[in-house]
Amino acid sequence: MNQLDFEDVKKKGLRVPKFKTVPAHIAIVMDGNGRWANQRGLSRIEGHKAGEAALLDVVAGAIEAGVKNLTVYAFSTENWKRSTEEVLGLMSIFARYIEREADRLAAESVRMRFIGDRSRLDARLQRLMAGIEERTAQYSRLNLTVAINYGGRDELTRAIRAITVDVAEGRLDPSAVTEALVSQRLDTGDLPDPDLVIRTSGETRTSNFLPWQAAYAEFEFTQTLWPDFTPDELALILKRFGNRD
Ligand code: FPP
Repeated sequence: MNQLDFEDVKKKGLRVPKFKTVPAHIAIVMDGNGRWANQRGLSRIEGHKAGEAALLDVVAGAIEAGVKNLTVYAFSTENWKRSTEEVLGLMSIFARYIEREADRLAAESVRMRFIGDRSRLDARLQRLMAGIEERTAQYSRLNLTVAINYGGRDELTRAIRAITVDVAEGRLDPSAVTEALVSQRLDTGDLPDPDLVIRTSGETRTSNFLPWQAAYAEFEFTQTLWPDFTPDELALILKRFGNRD
């Protein structure tokens, strides 16, 4: 567990070099948009828009660094408790991101996918999500996975339910229920487990994000609020990751 002082990064003026060892899969809890907005007297939605801009940069930085898998936590199963205005604002940010970024992601050979229970999302957003997944399915330079209406316990519960149905209907023998099978049945199915989880904004909780998958991951907690997180800071974290055993 590490705390990072972003002032150090700025002073060093780091870019995102190609490191010898990069994590196979980075997962990020993008926290702190609300506080970032508050500090500036802006609405929470303005904070999320600034968070979207940070995500664009970090995706570019991850590609530059040669990271193959990046998963970001955009909306948790608990986030429905926020005001209707904030929930709708976030949903329209997600829709607009897909519409605006589709060409660029395809041009950069990025495969975009979503995890979480999408059945509760509105039909238009679900169509956009399915559309970009299909459009970018052939790419593999970076697997960008966005967690929307995602909760790790919910994901495990859905997987267990599906497995028990297969057992009850005779398609699966209980002895075939192994750790590997459970991993396959999660929303992250074919992705490697994250080896690095980053959480911004100084909170040191994992908040139901990839609890099964991150069992052996390194964790990095930074004080930086998500809208201020940059590829330079990612580079510093990657450097430290590369120096670990
Ligand atoms: C947590 O900060 C952040 C969120 C709930 C939303 C994350 C969404 C984005 C970064 C927008 C862009 C995403 C995509 C996929 C286009 P918070 O609101 O809990 O912050 P706080 O703890 O300071 O209140």
